Amino acid sequence: MNNPHKYPKIIAHRGASAHAPENTLPAFQLALEQSADGIELDVMLSKDNRLIVIHDSTLERTTNGKGNVLDHSYAELKELDAGYHFGDAFKNTPLPLLDEVYEQFGGKFKINVELKNYHRPYDQLPDIALALTKKHNLLDTVIFSSFNARNLIKLRKAEPKVQTGLLCLPGFAGALYRGGFGRRYRYDALHPHHSDVSQNLVQSLHKRGKQINVWTVNKTDDLLKMAGFGVDSIITDDPEHARKVLDNLNI
Ligand code: G3P
Ligand code: MG
Repeated sequence: MNNPHKYPKIIAHRGASAHAPENTLPAFQLALEQSADGIELDVMLSKDNRLIVIHDSTLERTTNGKGNVLDHSYAELKELDAGYHFGDAFKNTPLPLLDEVYEQFGGKFKINVELKNYHRPYDQLPDIALALTKKHNLLDTVIFSSFNARNLIKLRKAEPKVQTGLLCLPGFAGALYRGGFGRRYRYDALHPHHSDVSQNLVQSLHKRGKQINVWTVNKTDDLLKMAGFGVDSIITDDPEHARKVLDNLNI
């Protein structure tokens, strides 16, 4: 769990998604084997309010299903293949439940749960995800993040010990959240796109006792730049590559 390295923690974006189907148990397992310090995953509710780990609100891109996730029950979703498009080696890989991810990986490394209720911003997603995290006793190693800042407020109200990260859209669209306006959400960490990160932003967050976790950093130059700024975590599709690059740094 402790990061033995001086450089930023490496968090596998949707698991080791460069080498395995995103947001699946094999991608999370690979991240663990590639000695990532944690994983980032996306979660939303099914029709029957189960916590499904998936990025898009629709099924087409990552599974053999069709339509909206929220129009399907878990019984329907668990029959889908979230791996076939990644080649034969991953055929018949199911969409995981957050419960299964916690069961298999809870406490082994950090888990960044992105709450993806962007089409239904007032749904029960934060409440249900928090209850599950507490049931697994994982408040210490889970950080919730979202572009929907209401989730962060709701979580903190329900559980002051919860860790939260405020996701910021890239560029101008995320400027308010990166600045003074974002502070009202009392996040523990800011999660900006790496192209918006500067030495000043890192320093001002650290002065305020906040962390900065940046996404999605895959290129060698960008990895080196983020490590040079001293960010706390780098969210990357390829933790193995990031580790190789950062291991060569003398920091
Ligand atoms: O949490 C960082 C990143 O995952 C946010 O964007 O679209 O990849 O979920 P997205
Ligand atoms: Mg995400």
